Amino acid sequence: MDKEGRKDETVELARRRGFLWQAFEIYGGAAGFYDYGPLGALLKRRIEDKWRDFYRREGFFEIETTTVAPREIFEASGHLESFADQAVVCTHCKSFFRVGENVRVGVNCPECGGELEAAGEFNLMFQTRIGVSKGERDERAGKKSEGYLRPETAQGIFANFQRLLRFNRDKLPFGVMQIGKAYRNEISPRQSLIRLREFTLAEVEVFVDPDEKKKHPRFEDVKGRTLRMVPGDGEEEEKSVGEVVSSGIIANEYLGYHIARVNEFLESIGIPRAKIRFRQHHRDEMAHYAQDCWDAEFLSDRYGWMEIVGVADRGDYDLSSHASLSSVDMSVHAESAKIIPHVIEPSYGIDRIIYALLESAFYEEQVGTENRRVLRFKREIAPIQAAVFPLLNRDELKLKAREVFQMLRDASFIVEYDDSGSIGRRYRRQDEIGTPYCITIDYETLDNDTVTVRERDTMKQVRVPIGKLEEVLV
Ligand code: ATP
Ligand code: GLY
Repeated sequence: MDKEGRKDETVELARRRGFLWQAFEIYGGAAGFYDYGPLGALLKRRIEDKWRDFYRREGFFEIETTTVAPREIFEASGHLESFADQAVVCTHCKSFFRVGENVRVGVNCPECGGELEAAGEFNLMFQTRIGVSKGERDERAGKKSEGYLRPETAQGIFANFQRLLRFNRDKLPFGVMQIGKAYRNEISPRQSLIRLREFTLAEVEVFVDPDEKKKHPRFEDVKGRTLRMVPGDGEEEEKSVGEVVSSGIIANEYLGYHIARVNEFLESIGIPRAKIRFRQHHRDEMAHYAQDCWDAEFLSDRYGWMEIVGVADRGDYDLSSHASLSSVDMSVHAESAKIIPHVIEPSYGIDRIIYALLESAFYEEQVGTENRRVLRFKREIAPIQAAVFPLLNRDELKLKAREVFQMLRDASFIVEYDDSGSIGRRYRRQDEIGTPYCITIDYETLDNDTVTVRERDTMKQVRVPIGKLEEVLV
């Protein structure tokens, strides 16, 4: 429910159909934690696999680093000092809120209308202890065992930079990607998947010689693409990527190239073009490590524009800081000098992307006397690729339907079998979870090995030989 008492239809459907559940529901739930049910887990895997494939084609390699890290990592990264949000507290109901666009001192408490007062700055990292330390109370020993859950996956990549460079035969540029959990102890997470305390990031760190940042070898491929752009101090406009780079609004082709690629990925999984824009950060909202930063934003019917991907130029901030704190050399021999590489980073929040997909795929229409609810997922990401039904509840049809179902499973399709209720109800159920095809076995199937295939969006049915089913579904 939101403040006006409106139910979030997207989250409600996702809950009912097994995409998404409030974590620890049996104990009343915990704010900012959600679990993915069977359909949500399938959807998430498919998006992550598409993302991997997208960046693997770019020639980037994937690593997997730990989610807990010692204090030094976040001392060097600046998160210990700077990764904090301002909070306010209600003097009446004692609820805490993160200071943002609509909540600050001077407005009333969104929960009870009470007065809000400043409550200081909160670091968003979860702290933990690594191992047992004898001198727990001794300050130095305490610091040694101090650990944090990572608030971004990026630091695991930076900490391995030397090894990664060697792996790439000491050559720049190269890109490294990672998908994994990140943790932020958000002050007031009240918006389902949008503000979680544990969430999945998919991040790419591209290491490049600063002298070569201006020219990207494949910039030609993207420079003619137009995007909806909001420069830091300007109005929203459709502009070509080439134009934005040549006018200096985006300072280098590497950043421009990766912004265009983020847009391409988001569209490829089904986020409508009309609901995507790129907004440049103002100087005062930029993260402590960034030289420039653009948010890919999604236009939500419920929440308005919201960030789903951040694309940052981190300069040499991270490598220089780690070099200085660890005393490990992070420089690279470039043609004429030793340089510290710069980093361009697209950082995707997978859960917000899932919210955006659920919301934009959701569609309702009146069919006859019935209300049809559909999730219009693209075929490539739909959690279930096809459902197989016997037309009637007869043994000979059920047997054949199970055969077709197993054949598709053996060919690695994600399929469901359903023989309960009327065929109309079975169609509606699949529509609601976004299954693109329903395959029905009838008496004609027993005669000539053909089935009917019904397409989700048009509801059109065609007759297809069983031998051709795999071609239709891919
Ligand atoms: P916001 O300003 O909304 O807090 P942010 O600027 O802190 O976001 P980044 O630090 O740029 O976000 O993180 C990269 C991506 O991680 C974001 O684009 C978003 O998709 C995702 N993300 C960040 N915080 C959360 C969160 N609490 N829950 C879910 N996803 C998140
Ligand atoms: N790695 C990008 C971020 O956490 O903001």
